[in-house]
Amino acid sequence: MSVAKEFDYSQLHTAKKEITRFMLAYKFALDEVSTKVNILQQEFQLIHDYNPIEHISTRLKSMESILEKAQRKNLELTMPSIKQNMQDIAGIRINCSFNSDIYKLRDMIQNQQDVEIIECKDYIKNPKPNGYRSLHLIIKIPVFMSDRVEDVYVEMRIRTIAMDFWASLEHKIFYKYNKAVPEKITRELKEAAESANELDRKMETLHKEILELKQ
Ligand code: GTP
Ligand code: MG
Repeated sequence: MSVAKEFDYSQLHTAKKEITRFMLAYKFALDEVSTKVNILQQEFQLIHDYNPIEHISTRLKSMESILEKAQRKNLELTMPSIKQNMQDIAGIRINCSFNSDIYKLRDMIQNQQDVEIIECKDYIKNPKPNGYRSLHLIIKIPVFMSDRVEDVYVEMRIRTIAMDFWASLEHKIFYKYNKAVPEKITRELKEAAESANELDRKMETLHKEILELKQ
């Protein structure tokens, strides 16, 4: 009886350690990407004389969310399968000042030798039907652990503050609302997204005009 108990305990201990290591790799990847973005931001500030990034936030999916998504997407419940098929366990959200900064940042990330862009969804050039605008990248980055190098996926969502304002409130309004949304609300929400976009364009024009005056 006591032998069986000990056996269960050691198996549990090993499983817990493996899961912790699995999650740690994502935390390290987020630390690395945050450092990279910080370096790019400081260098950009020096060269162009303004800070293109308003805000950076990172998040790690919780174990509950990972399991819930794996079940929803019918993924095999093994670490290799989850690692390969769930590419948004680690996420970084970057709010830029202007639209053009988003693409400059994308190019700078693309030019990093150890970063590979696996997927790019441009919801700015092709907004979603509800009006959602953002640049989504899935990148792959090597994480140097004590005994191995692991390639880890990180999801990056880059948008302006106006786009972020719209997306945060849209998420709040519709989160867990799984009935059909009345057409009037859909239309008004899209109009609000257009207004956010218009505001972005106005601010960017002003920014460019002032830059020219400064020269
Ligand atoms: P997921 O299965 O949720 O990961 O979506 P996906 O694999 O189709 O990826 P996509 O790049 O379209 O979206 C990634 C994430 O961006 C989502 O999980 C949301 O958090 C966010 N997102 C995408 N579309 C919308 C939207 O219309 N409104 C808001 N507020 N957020 C969105
Ligand atoms: Mg996703």
